[in-house]
Amino acid sequence: MHALELDSLTKRFGDKVAVDGLSLALAPGAFLGLLGRNGAGKSTTLKMVTGLLKPTSGSIRVLGLNLEADPLAVKRQIGAMPEDMALLDMLTGPQYLRFVGRMYGMPDALIDGRRDELFDKLDLSAPPKQLIADYSFGMKKKVALCAALIHGPRVVFLDEPFEGIDPVTSRTIKDILHSLQQSGVTLVLTSHILEVVERLCPLIAILDEGRLKGFGPLEDLRRGGESLEQLFVNLVGGTQKGSLSWL
Ligand SMILES: Nc1ncnc2c1ncn2[C@@H]1O[C@H](COP(=O)(O)OP(=O)(O)OP(=O)(O)O)[C@@H](O)[C@H]1O
Ligand SMILES: [Mg+2]
Repeated sequence: MHALELDSLTKRFGDKVAVDGLSLALAPGAFLGLLGRNGAGKSTTLKMVTGLLKPTSGSIRVLGLNLEADPLAVKRQIGAMPEDMALLDMLTGPQYLRFVGRMYGMPDALIDGRRDELFDKLDLSAPPKQLIADYSFGMKKKVALCAALIHGPRVVFLDEPFEGIDPVTSRTIKDILHSLQQSGVTLVLTSHILEVVERLCPLIAILDEGRLKGFGPLEDLRRGGESLEQLFVNLVGGTQKGSLSWL
């Protein structure tokens, strides 16, 4: 059984084909870095596999379950951080995590215990009455990450978890993701920070205009020993433009 299986997954917005016949399969415990230029279709793909967006065509199976046929069973087993983080701004961080935890049917004591551990690990502290709306960008991101992990999901999807995150926290998040992988969780993340992806993700998928341009173990993809950056540019790189006319 695969942890994730996409078959000809396609999403159109009017004439625009954002994701174009994407097929791939991940074994349980895989850690995939999904790469691509701005607008390549990464967030659209993650929104479809987490049930936030309905595919135009194609199918998604998570841990052997068909997402369309069995959305709740799938959602119980996955954790997701969407690109807009999808937080409830008018709650405090702890209130939001209570809300999320209860949706998964967790008892309050378990929610609070895990929340304390996650907040402590991520160094997230805010005045008790401060609403998420008044958190800094990075603090919001941390809450969103906690919400994606608090119920102990078997498959985790993170859209740009390192963007806007300070170097110390980045290291902590890498640490957390590494431990998740060690415990058999399947992970998919998107990022533009290639050094992070190179260090973290044994498996790479590169999207370009919604199509899969490369997929496999990083070591196999860069046969010639080139860097991930060079591989990326080779596969999807546009042409270098001239200099700006007024400079
Ligand atoms: N709701 C929408 N309506 C219309 N077009 C959309 C919508 N969502 C995404 N698109 C289009 O689909 C394409 C893929 O967008 P997507 O957000 O998936 O890209 P991405 O790879 O996540 O890019 P980035 O690296 O900038 O986050 C883009 O051309 C975008 O304009
Ligand atoms: Mg995106």
